[in-house]
Amino acid sequence: MAPKILVVCGSSREDGNLEQVVGLAATAARAAGAEVRELFLREVQLPMMVWGDPHQAMADEVVQVRALASWADGFVIGTPEYHGSMSGALKNWFDFLYAEFAGKFAGVVATTGGGTGDMSITAVKTCFQWCHGFVLPFHAAASAAAFTGAQLTDPRVIDRVERVGHDVARYAPLLRASFDAARTIEGPAGGVASLHGDAG
Ligand SMILES: Cc1cc2nc3c(=O)[nH]c(=O)nc-3n(C[C@H](O)[C@H](O)[C@H](O)COP(=O)(O)O)c2cc1C
Repeated sequence: MAPKILVVCGSSREDGNLEQVVGLAATAARAAGAEVRELFLREVQLPMMVWGDPHQAMADEVVQVRALASWADGFVIGTPEYHGSMSGALKNWFDFLYAEFAGKFAGVVATTGGGTGDMSITAVKTCFQWCHGFVLPFHAAASAAAFTGAQLTDPRVIDRVERVGHDVARYAPLLRASFDAARTIEGPAGGVASLHGDAG
């Protein structure tokens, strides 16, 4: 079975730099044998999450993002760096999800103005880990200087983004299989997986 990878573009800007970066990661994941789906948050009119609102839970957009995240074995999550963190659109997406990330694997990529991306990448990784997901200990950031005009041209950045795409396709199915097998083991021997119970 091909690894199922969801590539998420957390920018709300049309034709922003992040679209190229996540597109490159998606191509690399496909080259690694993955079935890839892409989610552009600017195309999804997700409401601002209101915890416990039953109408929101039934909204088409919410149902769609939850189904996509459930489907995925792993994620490439892309964020623009906004004020030293992830975008609000991406954090709002996260807030609709929790169990969908448990035992899954994610690689993170970012775009920045001039920064290194460390802050926004760390924010995304922390958020994913707090949902009991596992993250790739490597990442890629494309600052404005990595682009010539509208084109991503820095070969070092391109190389890093492609490595993220390949690694997510490589490790995501292994991790999901191990985690799902441990869900039904009782007690501490089941580790964090058995806290989540049967995926059903
Ligand atoms: C609200 C806002 C906050 C930003 N904060 C930062 C920042 O903290 N560090 C940085 O390097 N760039 C920052 N930028 C620049 C963006 O990260 C940069 O323009 C990036 O290319 C945006 O992604 P996009 O091209 O996909 O829209 C900020 C931009 C906006 C609009």
